[in-house]
Amino acid sequence: MPTENTAYAAALAAATADETLETLGETGAAWLGEYSQVHMNVFGTPLRVMDHGQGTRVWDVDGNEYLDFLAGIAVNSVGYAHPKWVKAVADQAAKVAHVSNYFATEPQIRLAARLVELAGAPEGSHVYFGNSGAEGNEAAIKLAKLYGRTLPGATPSMGGKPARIIALSHGFHGRTLGALSATWKPAIRKAFEPLVPNIEFVEASDTAALRDAFAQTGPGRYGKGPVAAVIMELIQGEAGVRPLGADYVKAARALCDEHGALLIIDEVQTGMGRTGSWFAFQREDLSGGITPDIVTFAKGVAGGFPMGGMIAFGAELSALFTPGSHGSTFAGNPLAASAALATIDIIDNEDLVANAEARGTQLRDGILACGNPLFASVRGRGLLDAVQLTHPCAHAAMAWALEHGLIVNAVAPDALRMAPPLNVTAEEVDEAVAVLARIPDDLPND
Ligand SMILES: Cc1ncc(COP(=O)(O)O)c(C=O)c1O
Repeated sequence: MPTENTAYAAALAAATADETLETLGETGAAWLGEYSQVHMNVFGTPLRVMDHGQGTRVWDVDGNEYLDFLAGIAVNSVGYAHPKWVKAVADQAAKVAHVSNYFATEPQIRLAARLVELAGAPEGSHVYFGNSGAEGNEAAIKLAKLYGRTLPGATPSMGGKPARIIALSHGFHGRTLGALSATWKPAIRKAFEPLVPNIEFVEASDTAALRDAFAQTGPGRYGKGPVAAVIMELIQGEAGVRPLGADYVKAARALCDEHGALLIIDEVQTGMGRTGSWFAFQREDLSGGITPDIVTFAKGVAGGFPMGGMIAFGAELSALFTPGSHGSTFAGNPLAASAALATIDIIDNEDLVANAEARGTQLRDGILACGNPLFASVRGRGLLDAVQLTHPCAHAAMAWALEHGLIVNAVAPDALRMAPPLNVTAEEVDEAVAVLARIPDDLPND
C-alpha cells in the first residue's frame, strides 16, 4: 500500500545522507501526475511507476533497481519474467486466449485436477475458478449459504432461521460485498453497511468465543439459526502475518464437526507453496493436521496472472453448485489456467516449496540476528513473514527501505511484511537483511 505522505517525506529526509538512495525520478513523477488525473483514488498515490522485472528484481521507469520482497503482495511466486512462465502464457495467447464457459479448454481441466491433487482433496472434490481472492471467497460464501439451507431448522419459509457464517476478528477475505461481509476491519467495511446478513464475527484464536457462537443456535425468541460455516485464514496476512495457532484450528474443526458446519480455509495469501507447504492447512504447526471443507486460493496461484477460486472437498458438497448457481465470464480462462499450470510446474520442478521453507528460516534468523534495535520480533512461516517494530513507524520504515532499493510493506502500523518470490536466493535474502538492518530506529511514528 502506498505510503502516507507525511511519513514518506520524513523518511526521505532521514535517508538523504545515504549514497544508495533510489529517489523518485522525473519520469516516474510525471507518470504519477497523470495517474492521479485518471485513476479513482482508492490506493493513494503509488510509490513508483514500474517498468520491468527479472527474478526478484524490478526496475522503475527512471531506471532504479529494487529487490522485491513483496512480489506484488505474495503474487509473483516464481519471480518476474520466469522464461517458462513467459513461454506458457505467450504460447497459450497465440493459441486461444478466451472461449467463454459454453466451451472448455485443456489447461483449465488439467489445472482443476492438479489443484485437487495438490490439496489432497478426496475423490469427487471439485474446483470453481474465478479471477481474484475476493471471488474465491464469494464462491465459498455462496456455497456455504446453499449448504446452510440443508441444515435442520434453517429454512425460513418453513419457520426456521437463516443459517449463519462465522468469521474471525482481524480476518481479511476481500473487498467485494460478500467477501467484505466476512472481513473484519471496521475502517474498510463500515461505510458499506448493511452488508450480507447472518455473517458474524468472533474473537480470533478464542475457542470459548467460537463455542459460544455455536451455542447460540436454538429455537425461541433468542435462539439463532444453525452455523453453516466458519471461515478463517490460518495465518491472518493483512492483520500482520499472525498465525491463529494449531490448537485453535483443531478446536474449530472439532466444533464444526460437532455442529455439522463447514470449515472454510482462506489460502489466498498462504497457498501455493508460500508457507513452506503447498497449502498452509497441510502444515501441522499451523492447522494441527485438520482437513478443511473448502479451500480458497488466488494471489500466487498463477504467478502474476489474475486467477482465484475454491476447491470444495468431496462430491456431496461440490454438488450443491448446479448450473446457474454461480459463474463469471472469465472463470477458468485458458491464459490464466496456463499461467497457473506453468507456475505450479516451476514450483514443483525447482523444489520451491522447500526453498520457501529454507529461505524463510534464513530470513527470520537473519532479521533476529541483525541487531537493529527497531526490531522487536519476527514471525511467519516459509516466505510469508513479518517483523514487529518497537514503535509504529512501519510506513516510514517501508519508505526508507524503498529508497534503499528494497520493497517490503507496512502490513500494520508497527509491522513490515516480507513475501518475496518462492525462488528467492540465499544471497538475495542476505542482501535484504542487510538493508533491513540499516533502517534507522528513530524514524517518526506514522
Ligand atoms: C487472505 C486473503 N483473502 C482474500 C484476499 C482478497 O484477494 P483479492 O485482492 O485478490 O481479491 C486477500 C488479499 O489480500 C487475502 O490476503
